[in-house]
Order: sequence, then structure tokens, then C-alpha cells
Amino acid sequence: MGVFRFLCYCSFVIFCLLLFLPPDVFSVKKHDFKTCKDSSFCMRHRQLPKNSISFYVSKTVQTSKETVQVEITSMDNKKPLLLSVTLLQGPVFRFKVNEVDPIHTRFEVPYVIEQLPKQQTFSIEEDSKERMVLSAGDVKCVIMKNPLVVFVLHQGEVIVQLNKDWLLKFEEYRTKPMVTGGGDTKAEEDDEDNEEDDEKQEKEPAEQDSESKKDEPPEKEPKVDLEAGMWEESFKSHPDSKPKGPASVGMDIGFPGFKHVYGVPEHADSFNLRNTLDGEPYRLYNLDVFEYELDSRMALYGAIPAVVAHNTRRSVGVLWLNAAETWIDVDRPQDSKPMLKKLADFVTKTASEDLVTTHWMSESGIIDLFVMVGPTSKDVFAQYASLTGLAPIPPAFSIAYHQCRWNYNDDKDCRGVDEGFDTHDIPYDVLWLDIEHTVEKKYFTWDSHKFPDSKKLLDELNAKGRKMVTIIDPHIKRSNGYHVYDEATRLGLFVKQSDKTTDYKGWCWPGDSSWVDYLNPSAQQWWAGLFSLDMYAGSTLSLFTWNDMNEPSVFNGPEITMHKDALHHGGVEHRDIHNMYGMLMIMSTNRGQLLRSHNQHRPFVLSRSFFAGSQRFGAVWTGDNHASWEHLRASIPMLLSMNIVGLTFVGADVGGFFGEPTPELLVRWYQLAAFTPFFRAHAHIETKRREPWLFGEDNTKRIRNAIRRRYTFLPYWYTQFFKTSVTGQPLMRPYWVEFPQDETHFAKEDAFLVGPSVLVAPVMHQGSTNVEVHLPGTTGDLWYDYRSLMATAAPAKLTVEADMDFIPVFYRGGSIIPTKGRIRRSSVLARDDPLTLIVAPDSQDSAEGDVYLDDEHTFQYRMGKFLYRHLTYSQGEIKSQMAKQIVAEPNFTATLPVHGSQNFVSRVKVERVIVLNVAKQPKEAILTSGKDSRSLVVLYDAPSKSATIRKPDVNIADDFTIKLVKCD
Ligand code: GLC
Repeated sequence: MGVFRFLCYCSFVIFCLLLFLPPDVFSVKKHDFKTCKDSSFCMRHRQLPKNSISFYVSKTVQTSKETVQVEITSMDNKKPLLLSVTLLQGPVFRFKVNEVDPIHTRFEVPYVIEQLPKQQTFSIEEDSKERMVLSAGDVKCVIMKNPLVVFVLHQGEVIVQLNKDWLLKFEEYRTKPMVTGGGDTKAEEDDEDNEEDDEKQEKEPAEQDSESKKDEPPEKEPKVDLEAGMWEESFKSHPDSKPKGPASVGMDIGFPGFKHVYGVPEHADSFNLRNTLDGEPYRLYNLDVFEYELDSRMALYGAIPAVVAHNTRRSVGVLWLNAAETWIDVDRPQDSKPMLKKLADFVTKTASEDLVTTHWMSESGIIDLFVMVGPTSKDVFAQYASLTGLAPIPPAFSIAYHQCRWNYNDDKDCRGVDEGFDTHDIPYDVLWLDIEHTVEKKYFTWDSHKFPDSKKLLDELNAKGRKMVTIIDPHIKRSNGYHVYDEATRLGLFVKQSDKTTDYKGWCWPGDSSWVDYLNPSAQQWWAGLFSLDMYAGSTLSLFTWNDMNEPSVFNGPEITMHKDALHHGGVEHRDIHNMYGMLMIMSTNRGQLLRSHNQHRPFVLSRSFFAGSQRFGAVWTGDNHASWEHLRASIPMLLSMNIVGLTFVGADVGGFFGEPTPELLVRWYQLAAFTPFFRAHAHIETKRREPWLFGEDNTKRIRNAIRRRYTFLPYWYTQFFKTSVTGQPLMRPYWVEFPQDETHFAKEDAFLVGPSVLVAPVMHQGSTNVEVHLPGTTGDLWYDYRSLMATAAPAKLTVEADMDFIPVFYRGGSIIPTKGRIRRSSVLARDDPLTLIVAPDSQDSAEGDVYLDDEHTFQYRMGKFLYRHLTYSQGEIKSQMAKQIVAEPNFTATLPVHGSQNFVSRVKVERVIVLNVAKQPKEAILTSGKDSRSLVVLYDAPSKSATIRKPDVNIADDFTIKLVKCD
């Protein structure tokens, strides 16, 4: 035992040393992580030949106007399964497949669906031997009974097909068979029987589509033993006892008419999902991957099992609500797939012959599938938000700039950095403290040698409007006398080992640790209580939280994470909830911050791990990236993938976590990240210091300008965050969200939009001083270069000069963008500063926009204390009125969170209006507000054709018009 311990500690020390090695010494240790071949259930699903195991509807259990339940049976399964179909407001179809009477309760994911949208009624148009047809308005669901295939139609067009390739596979719980000798088991015999049955089935498929067999890919992999790993499995000396045996579920989901599918973050891969059949499927299994690789489908820190498919006519989305390890194959064949003949009766519109098929495989749980019908991408985002929740509007400081490193060493260091920003005239809002600020990595403590008076530091920063964040990880040092450990032990709030009684143990930053069981409601409550000001000594209301390592990362665990047979509250195996552990943690932290302020202040939590629904609780960053141009480029597809599945408040470590960025890379990173939702610089402990002023005068100026640009656009950002909090629309958008018909940009990932109106085309290659920018749109659309203010007609491809001082950014013609011209030390200090409105007219000389204001940190806005102004411009006249609705795009509106009056008293005025594309010098402008009518000076810049209306000095809360008067 002693020797074992010694060896364990040696490996731990080696592990830690490796973390400190210069990153170039090695890269990702692929062999630490499973491929599909190492995961027995993935192989069992993936090796399933298409169209080999058919299910059929064996019995109708219930049909009502709201639910259809049928039993489905296959030769593969001994017992029938229950398929239930409901239609939710959206419209969203929900398909659930579960065992009828399982010997163990199958895990159903809690907390993600906050409140199920209202169930809709449908009519059962047909219920024959062949099929059942459910219909409601524009949508239909056709359940073909034998073989079981389900189609979802919208306006007569098939948009989703389930089980078309007969890849539905559901491993029912069974009793562990007795070993009969020679290692064979009764279950294995049973399964062999099944295989025989399957073969039979293959020979006599029920009404099989004649074409289907031709599509089978040639066998690429050598045959593997599919029986292995059913009852126990090990990976790199880590056994998984699998007490409940095999329990995986899987199914194919096809998107006819679509070539492009996006989503399933988190992967460091292309935005547009690739064909996976020639390699690994995309894997969703939250992991702490050291030095993660790019262009890879390997799992990373977070998992959202949802995709959005898009074509020129529509978008559709799918949420596969399962928190267990999940693999997804994507099949994007070149050739077309014929549609089942029998369906032709229902199809009034024929989709193109494109077809992307996805194959979803999860280790346990049930099939709980939501089909978000669209038809626009904005509808899909709203439907997704109606299921998993909206990202609430964050406190305004958190969308400004954050300064982090591992570590700001002590009080003196923090003050030095803080002063550095002031000395160099660079705004920042938040200073971060990593793990070294604690006593021996005991979270909720401060090392008093380093931080003798944290409250004083917090208060002094707060006086300048600045906040701090401390890191709080889920691994709790096993150390008697540490109050968090003692209490969690006494109350039984840690995850348990598979023996059900011992607390789960592993290694992480503090050494020997145990992990809080956030699935346990008592643990959630207790954890939340730790954030109260009297429990968290040395904290104040201006201290916020960073939850890291919450995949969870376990240095000596299988794949650097928790054993799947570890046990949570209610005897739930870790395997069932793995992908949502991090979300449960930030949910509890978020609650803690709410409690400490008696629900008065908005929380801010940053998380590395995430799941569907995490957007409700905090922001997320892309983990330990590298100071390289490749990682800079990868940040865009990664952030876009998150944004289109609800996770909008996201960013990547500016500069790259590992390694040393060249000054050029660092500058370019700041310039890009200033336009991403979460904007934080961070660096590994072994890297050189990187505060913005350490790279020479010129680079300090460039970084200062990039950060100031963020502060200039804060009113626009804040308005977008508000709209997202009500509509569920992404903050960072791929071109296709705004230009859904422009197929040329469906795979674009080197440029993006912030909200609907600002296009960003960053420099992402070393030495580049120009960028090829594609301006999307149709003839007549205009874009304005934000530096020259000159208009360019779309569609256009231009080479835009981008010297080291800036990256190309364009305003969309037809928009009005609120900005702030004065920059102060922090966003809070600029709260009441006046606005500059930028009017970028379209070719009809009109534009519109909006601006949202509130107190920026409480929930008073929920009581009507906010202002949401609708700004319009037409033929030289600007108008500001109270907005009654939120217009996310021409066809998409949402109601405001509060009906009735907006009663926020604001001191914010409009100090300037810049109107672009004004043909001639106007004589003056006339402001009219209530009874007040004044002439305003207009400065005209002929080269840029911009007219600057000076000092309207009208309160943004007032209704007003400003009219440009032409010269005679
Ligand atoms: C993890 C985090 C990183 C942090 C470090 C120390 O590697 O991803 O951001 O600095 O842990 O806490």
C-alpha cells in the first residue's frame, strides 16, 4: 500500500511538472483520450449496418389530441419500447423513446428544460396499418409503422427524418448474466441470438426501400468484438465496473434538402460540420484536454448536443437531450437519396436532393429528441431558447474588458496592474485571481501573506468602478480543518465512489480532493450558501466567480476525468450526468451570488465546462488555447458554434493561454477579441508577463485602441445582450444568419457579425496587412467601412488594407448604431456619458436601430426600470421613440420583458449624430423635442460624405426628431 501511494504521488508530481513544461515541448496526448474504438458502445452503434434492424409499431398505447404513444418493437429488443410524440409551442416536436418497464430507472436529464413550452394540440389525420399522420397548421409528423421511420414536414416539405437508416438502437437494462465458463455469458449468448435474428431480418426486411442497400459504405474497420465491454470495460488501466450493464441509445437523424449542419460544440474544428465517416465521429464528453489539437473532433470541455441545419430556404434544429457520453457521425454524401415512395402523398414541395444524415450515439439515458421546425434560423434560435432558456442580461461590467493571468501574485501586484491601466490610459473593468491566491488551493480562502486585506483591495478597485473575480473549482482539498471540506464531508455532499459509501477521491490542483455532488439539491443549496458575504471571508459584492476544471477534471482519473461508475445523489451514475456536471456547478454558483445580494444584483460566473442550458447561468471561455495564429483563427468557428446553440456569452483567452504570443499576434488577438462577446486576456503561469503596455509604445497604442474600441461599442453590445436575453438570438453570428439565402458564405468562418449590424473581418495571418472581405447581401445593400466611413455596394469582395492599427469592420447599411465617444477608466464610470449615434443608411436612405439602457447591475429592469428606444432614419430625418417590441429582424419580433411603461430615469444624452452617405453639406439640423426646437451645427466631411450633427444634447429617454436641412 505504501509503495502504491508513493507511486501514485510520483505520477501526480510528474503530471504537475508536465503542466509546467514549455508548451512547445509536446502537444495533445491523444492516447489519453478515447477514440470510438475504445468506447464499446460507440462501436456497437457505429458498426451497425444501415437498414439492418428495423423497428415496427407493435401497438398503439394512447392517442389524444396532445400525445401519441406507441409501442415499438424490433427483433433486436426483447421488450417493446415506448415512443411518445408531442407537439410544443414553437413549433417543436418532441420524440421520446424509453423502456416500458425498465429494471433500473433510466436517467432523464433534469434542469435543462426550465419550463416546457405549452403543449399544442394536433389532429390525427390518418391512423392506418401503414402510418399515422399528426397534423397541426403548417406542420405534420408522419409515423411510418413498418419499418418505423418518422418524418417531420413543414409546409409540405420533409425537413427531418428519423430512423430512415434504421439505426435506432436501444440497449434495454438487463440482469447481469451468470458466467457460464470460458468467459462467455448468458447475455452474450442472447446477443449472439440477436445477431442471428438480425441477419434474418436483414434478409427479409419489411418493406425495405429498394435503393437503401446500395448506400452502405465499404467496410473500413477490421471486425471488432462487439460483445466486449458490455459489462465492464477499462481504458488505460482504469476499470469501469458498469454495474447496470449496457444501456446505450442511438438513432439516425437526417436533414433532407440540407448540405450544411452546424453545432455540437465544443470542438476545435470547422464551423460547418464535416463528413465523419472517414474518421472519428464528433465526440461530446466534457474533458480537460491539455494542449488541445485543432481540426479535431475530439471532445473538449463542454457539450451541447444540438445542431442547426441550414439551406437557402430554411433552417431546422435538433436537440438530443442526453448528458451521457455521446458520439455523432455526420454523413454528407455527394449523391442524392431517394425518398420513401410511400411518403410522396404528403410531400407537396420537393426539397433538393441534398441530404445530411447524422447518427447520434449515447452511452445511457433515453432518447429525448426535440425537432425545432424553424423555418428561419431566428425561429430555430427562439425555439431552442424556449426549451433551454434565455441567457439573462449580464451586469454591464462583464461585457467590458477583463484582465487575467495565472496569477496576479499578491495585493501589490494587483495594485500595480490596476495602476498600469490608468497610467497607460487603458480602460478595464475586471481583475482576475487564479488558484494561487488561496491557501493551498482551498477555494473560498485567501492567502493572507499575499492578500492581507482583500476587502480593502476590492473596495479600492470598486471605487474606480472595477470588480474582481476569484477562481473557485469543484475539487475540494481533503484537508481536515478546511471548513468547506469538513462541512461537505459531514453533510455527505461529495460524489461517492462506486462502493456507494466512500467519498470519491482523486487528484487535482490541491492534491487529494473530493468533488461536490451538484446533482444533490442539498449540495446546491449548501454551495450557494458558501458565497454569502459572511461565509466567504474577505469577499464583497464586487467579487465575482470563475468556475474552472468543472468537466470535472480529475488528474488521475480515466481520460483526466471522473470515473463513470462514481455515484451521485439518488444513486445516479456519473456516466448519466457527466456532460452536465459543469452546468450543475455554475447553476449553484449563480444561485449563491443571487442569494448573497438577496436577489438584488445580477451574478457573473465564468465556466469552462458547459451543457445545453448553461447560458442561463454564466459565460464560457474556450479553455487552454495556444498563443498561435492557428488558435486565433480557430476561435471564430468555436465561438460561432456555441452561439448558434444558445451559448452566446463566450470568448477565447486573448493572446493564447500557453506559449508566448509575438507582439503582432497579441495585437491582432486584441483587435479580434474586442468584437467577441466575452473579452478577457489570460496567460499560463509560466509565460512572460503580458499586460498591454509591455510590448513597446506602438503596440501599447494599438492594444489601447483595440480595448477602447470595445468601450466605444459598449452601448451597441449592451443592446444586443438585452435583445439576446429576450429573443435567444446569437450575439456573434455567421453570415448565413443575416443573409440566409447567400449560399456562397455557408461555410464562412473567417468573418462574422456582431448582432445584425456590425461585420468584423479580422486579420488572422502573420504579416498580413490586408484582408479580403466579403460583403454579403444583394444588389442595393450597402456597407460602410467604419474607419473611412465610405459606402460600398454589396455583394462585394474587396481587399481592405489593415495595417497594424486596426482590422476591417463594417456597418451594415440600414442600421443605426449607438456608441460612446468618451472613454473612462471603466464602463461603470461611463454609465451616464452621452451617446454618439451612427446612422448608416441603406440605398433607400433609411435606417433603423435601437438602444437599451438600465441601471446595468440590478434586476430593476424586470420592474420596468429600463429604456428601450427605437431609432429610425429616413430621408434626412432621425426619430427616437419608445420601442414597444423587440425587432430582431424583419420577420422576428419578441415582446418586451415588461409590458407597459418604461420608467428608468436616465441621464444619458445624445451628444452627436453621425449620418453617413450624405451627398452634400447640409445647412443645419433642426432638433424637435416636445416644445423645444433648436438649430444644430452640422459638420460635413466631403471625402467620407459624413455629416456630424453636433450637440443635440437631448436625453435619450425623450422622443425627438432631428432633421437635416439641405442647403438651398
Ligand atoms: C486551467 C484553466 C486555466 C487556469 C488554470 C489554473 O488550466 O483552464 O485558465 O489558469 O487551470 O487555474
